[in-house]
Amino acid sequence: MGEVDPAFVQELEHRPKLGIIAAEGIPIIDLSTLSSSDATPDRSQALEGLVKQVGNACRDWGFFQVINHGVSLEKREKIFNASKKFFAQPLEEKNKIRRDDKGALGYYDTEHTKNVRDWKEYPPAFLLREICEDYAKEMERLAFKLMELIALSLGLGPDRFHGFFKDQTSAIRLNHYPPCPFPHLALGVGRHKDPGGLTILAQDDVGGLEVKRKSDGEWTWVNPTPNSYTINVGDIIQVWSNDAYESVEHRVKVNPEKERFSIPYFFGPAHYAIVKPLEEIVNEQNPAKFRPYNWAEFMANRKRSNFQKLDVENLQI
Ligand code: SIN
Ligand code: FE2
Repeated sequence: MGEVDPAFVQELEHRPKLGIIAAEGIPIIDLSTLSSSDATPDRSQALEGLVKQVGNACRDWGFFQVINHGVSLEKREKIFNASKKFFAQPLEEKNKIRRDDKGALGYYDTEHTKNVRDWKEYPPAFLLREICEDYAKEMERLAFKLMELIALSLGLGPDRFHGFFKDQTSAIRLNHYPPCPFPHLALGVGRHKDPGGLTILAQDDVGGLEVKRKSDGEWTWVNPTPNSYTINVGDIIQVWSNDAYESVEHRVKVNPEKERFSIPYFFGPAHYAIVKPLEEIVNEQNPAKFRPYNWAEFMANRKRSNFQKLDVENLQI
C-alpha cells in the first residue's frame, strides 16, 4: 500500500469515517414544470409547489438535486467524455500544461483546502474551452431559472437577482479524483463552503460528496441520482437572504478502487458586485447580519489565505 504523503492527511477530527450515513432527506426536485409552456391554473399551482420545495430545500439542507432540468444529456456526456480523455493521458503529458503560470501549484499538484492537500486533480480553465463554453450556456440557463425560483421563495420578484449576474464570474471545473488507498486519512476535497451564488454539480455514479446535515451536524452521503444535478446554496445567497438560506459545509470522500469525475459550475456575480443582505429582507426585527463586501476582493483574500477564510463568517456583524 505504501506510505501516505503527510500533506494529504486530515487532522484526526476531520478524518472521514469509512461507513456512510445516507442523506435520505435531501430533496430531489422535478423541474419539468419549468419547461412546459402552457399558462393553465394547473401549471401555476405546480409552479407554486415547486417554489415551496426549493425554498424548503434551501432552508433545511442548503442542498438539493434536480431532475428533468432541461440540460442536454448529449452535452453533458460530451463534457464528461472530454474530461475522461484528458485525465487518461500519461502524467508527463498532463504536466506539460501548467495550471498556474506562477508555478505555485502545477495543476496535478491540486488544491489545498485548509492547508491539507486534496486528493484531486483538475486542468487549467483554458483547456477544452469550446466544449466548456457550449456546456456553460446550458448551465447558465439552469442557474438563472434556479435563481428565479429562489427569489420567488424569498417573496421577491423572479428577476430580483438577474442584475448581479450581468457580468458574471461563473466558472466550470473538471475534477478527477483518482482511486485513493487511504480513504480513512485523505479527502478528495476537504470540508468547505462555496463562496459564490449557486453551485450546479454534475457527478458520475461513484459518489463521494458528503453534506453536513443541518439538523445534527452529521456528514451525510449524497446519493448520485443518474443525470441529475446537485445544487447548493453559496455564501452569497446566505448573505442576500440574511441567513434564511445558509451555505452548508460539504466535502468529498475518496474511493479506494474507483476513480470519480465531477463537473461543478460555479455561478458567480460580477467582480464589482457589492454583496450584502437585501433591503427587502432586512428590517427592525431582522437586522443585517453581514457587512457589505466586494465579491472580487473577497475572493482575492480567500485565495491569499490559502482557503483558510472559508466563508463569510468573518463578515458577520
Ligand atoms: C466541491 O465541492 O468542491 C466538489 C464537489 C464534488 O466533486 O462532488
Ligand atoms: Fe464545494
